[in-house]
Amino acid sequence: MSHESVRAQAARPIGVFDSGLGGLTVLGAIRRRLPKESTVYLGDTARVPYGPKAAETIRRYALEATDFLIGMGVKAIVVACNTATARALPAVEARAGVPVLGVVEPGGRAAANASPGGRIGVIGTSGTIASRAYNIVIHAHRPDARVFEQACPLFVPLVEEGWTEDPITRLAVERYLAPLLERNIDTLVLACTHYPLLKALLAEVVGPAVALIDSAESTAEALEKLLLDADLSNRTGDSPIARYYVTDEAARFDLLARRLLGEEVEHLEMVSVDSTG
Ligand code: DGL
Repeated sequence: MSHESVRAQAARPIGVFDSGLGGLTVLGAIRRRLPKESTVYLGDTARVPYGPKAAETIRRYALEATDFLIGMGVKAIVVACNTATARALPAVEARAGVPVLGVVEPGGRAAANASPGGRIGVIGTSGTIASRAYNIVIHAHRPDARVFEQACPLFVPLVEEGWTEDPITRLAVERYLAPLLERNIDTLVLACTHYPLLKALLAEVVGPAVALIDSAESTAEALEKLLLDADLSNRTGDSPIARYYVTDEAARFDLLARRLLGEEVEHLEMVSVDSTG
């Protein structure tokens, strides 16, 4: 590859996808850590939640998201969804033709390193918990860990509804976390990119003795390393652009994203990525 084409490739955006709003927690960390990089975010809001769906369905959705992002000319893809990472990472890697990063390895490694006594709770969607992906990654980094997993299928709809501080959400948090607290966990992995939006509530319920770990910062750090290793860091002086695409009504995404993350969502468009029709 000529010098010029390497430079042109490095100037391309980074693609990031999730089933909905959750991946914005990862995108935020990426934009803070890599402020020179342009980004393309796809939220598959027409088909959220992915969590309760069959592995095969999630794989199909993830491949459609991959095709869309590749069509947008991205230089790397971040699967900013634990469910899609747990169910479809190898399929996305095989399809993409550009470097791909999931959120499970960075998040699992961070939890294994942070836990003082190796008693680690993992909360995620039904799909992520059924895959046991975190269990495998945590044990790879810390073979003596005790891992206690809990699916919390109501959390994603509550976040997508914007009810991050509602009494109903608090009840759901208390109910789902009770079995993990009975196991005396010292660390809790937020194994779904929607859950950082519930962090204040989760922290109140688990108390100060339990460390909360999410994948956003560790994924951004891993992405920085991946770009450096592949010589893909943007070296142009152009102002970076953040583009957003959703598969269902853009106005609702805009409203919730602004409310939940306190950031303006510019360049927002609705698209269809469904290859079946
Ligand atoms: N935010 C995603 C995750 O990390 C998916 C949630 C969902 O669509 O169920 O698992």
